[in-house]
Amino acid sequence: MYVCICLGITDKAIKQAVLDDGVGNMRQLKQKLGAGTQCGKCVQMAQTIIDNIIIDE
Ligand code: FES
Repeated sequence: MYVCICLGITDKAIKQAVLDDGVGNMRQLKQKLGAGTQCGKCVQMAQTIIDNIIIDE
């Protein structure tokens, strides 16, 4: 599923960034993948995905 339409970033890509690259918050995700740097509409969903992965770990 696409989370960030602007940059074509999927939920899988976000999960991978969290699990493999140690991304722990939106600021780090922006640096890593660029999510949220265009229109910003994906920020809330991306944040939710990050939070849920971290809670599951
Ligand atoms: Fe992610 Fe626009 S949908 S910046």
